[in-house]
Amino acid sequence: MIGLLLACGSGADTAVAPGCEDAYDVTWESWGEGFFTTYCRSCHSASTSTRLGAPEGVNFDTSADLVQWSDAIRLVVLEEQTMPVGGGVYAEDLLLLEMLLECGQ
Ligand code: HEC
Repeated sequence: MIGLLLACGSGADTAVAPGCEDAYDVTWESWGEGFFTTYCRSCHSASTSTRLGAPEGVNFDTSADLVQWSDAIRLVVLEEQTMPVGGGVYAEDLLLLEMLLECGQ
């Protein structure tokens, strides 16, 4: 269902990825960093002292981390919905995360 939002691009002749022409301007700077700070970095940050079992090196501190982990993030947050531990991500944030992963990096 989430995917449908991105499925109907206008086909404009730009460098934007297919399906992303009408996406909001969702980038690491505009939205991603705040999202990962709110939901993930208490456990997944190089600077946290409370990893609570989050694997070493799986951190979401920078846009490069986002690129490195985008497939795994998609899997655990959007598909399996096993992260964040305890759930609780607003549906709107899930849509924006999908846009970020698809279009905003
Ligand atoms: C309360 C601590 C906590 C929070 C908050 C948390 N995680 Fe995790 N995360 C873990 C633990 C513990 C594991 C390892 C066990 C597991 O995979 O279930 C893990 C594993 C993962 C993995 C798998 C890493 C691998 O080896 O492939 C990913 C990806 C991930 N988390 C992403 C996220 C994202 C994205 C968020 C925020 C939306 C998040 N996590 C929030 C604790 C947390």
